[in-house]
Amino acid sequence: MKGALGFFILVVVIVGALLIFPKHKWPPLPDDQFHRGVATVAACMGCHGPGKSHPLAASHPPKFSCFKCHKTKIKTKKG
Ligand code: HEC
Ligand code: HEC
Repeated sequence: MKGALGFFILVVVIVGALLIFPKHKWPPLPDDQFHRGVATVAACMGCHGPGKSHPLAASHPPKFSCFKCHKTKIKTKKG
């Protein structure tokens, strides 16, 4: 009984979070070897800067403060 209640609360919390913070606005940081441990904008630009391996699209909005929008899901899986 206790387990089922915990699961129910977890589902409600997750669904609620998805409704409050629609995640299709911008992609989160991928949880892969490229993005683990990257902590500075300068480091991001090493790959996403102009002329680098994965440059940002020309239509990409601002080119600074990456973390304001692209949240990492690596360290903060549970808030
Ligand atoms: C070592 C190179 C490298 C670094 C450094 C790097 N990225 Fe990436 N990034 C990639 C590659 C390769 C992809 C595409 C493949 C993938 O999804 O992992 C990508 C994809 C992305 C995507 C798109 C994900 C999607 O679902 O479309 C975002 C957002 C992103 N990076 C943000 C950042 C930010 C912010 C930083 C700095 C914290 C950063 N990246 C640092 C290589 C890098
Ligand atoms: C104001 C919010 C905001 C900030 C700040 C921001 N981005 Fe984005 N990013 C977006 C949005 C919105 C998209 C989706 C754009 C689209 O689908 O055309 C996106 C998409 C991306 C993508 C995948 C699509 C592409 O354009 O290549 C990468 C990679 C990326 N951002 C990296 C970065 C990096 C690196 C930084 C820091 C230099 C950064 N973003 C800062 C909002 C932001």
